[in-house]
Amino acid sequence: MPTKTLGAVTAGAFSMLFSAQVLAHGDVTPQTMDTQELQQLGDEWLEENPYTSEYEKHDVAVEIGFSAYTQNCARCHGLEAISGGIAPDLRYLEPGIEGDEWYKYRVLNGAVRDGRVYMPKMAEYLSQEALWAIRAWLETVATTE
Ligand code: HEC
Repeated sequence: MPTKTLGAVTAGAFSMLFSAQVLAHGDVTPQTMDTQELQQLGDEWLEENPYTSEYEKHDVAVEIGFSAYTQNCARCHGLEAISGGIAPDLRYLEPGIEGDEWYKYRVLNGAVRDGRVYMPKMAEYLSQEALWAIRAWLETVATTE
C-alpha cells in the first residue's frame, strides 16, 4: 500500500479524492511497534500522556513515536505531521492535558461520518504505549502559527 502519496495531495483535490482514499485505507495493516523500553501502561487508558518531556526516557518515546506515526498515521495526516488536506494537521493539537484528552478520544473512537470510517479506531491496532509515544513526538513538532 502506498504510504507516501497523500502528502502531495492539496486541499483543492480534497473532495475529489477523499472518499476514494478513505475506502483505500479501510484496511489497516497493523504495524507492531516495540515499546518495551518504555514504562508499560496496562490495559486501562490513562488520562494524560505519561511520556511528556518530564519523562526520563522522553527521547526514546519521541523516537518510537515518530516511527509509529510515519507507519500508521502519515498516510492520512501527512509526513512529518504536515497535513496535505486529507485529515487535520496534528501539529495544531493543543499542548498538555487538553490536547491529550482530545487525542485519546480520537485514537480510541476514530471518526465516522454518515456511516463511513474517516479514521479507524487506531487503538485497535496500536498499543497505548505506541499511541502515547506518537503524542509525545507530535508535541515536539507542535506549532501555533
Ligand atoms: C484513514 C485515515 C486516517 C488515519 C490512518 C489516521 N487518521 Fe486521524 N483523522 C483522520 C480524519 C479524516 C480525521 C478528522 C475526523 C473528523 O474531524 O471527523 C482525523 C482526526 C484525528 C485527530 C483529531 C484532530 C483534530 O484536530 O480534531 C487526531 C488526534 C488523530 N486523527 C490522530 C491520529 C493518529 C495518532 C493516527 C495514527 C495512529 C491517525 N490519526 C490515523 C484520518 C486518519
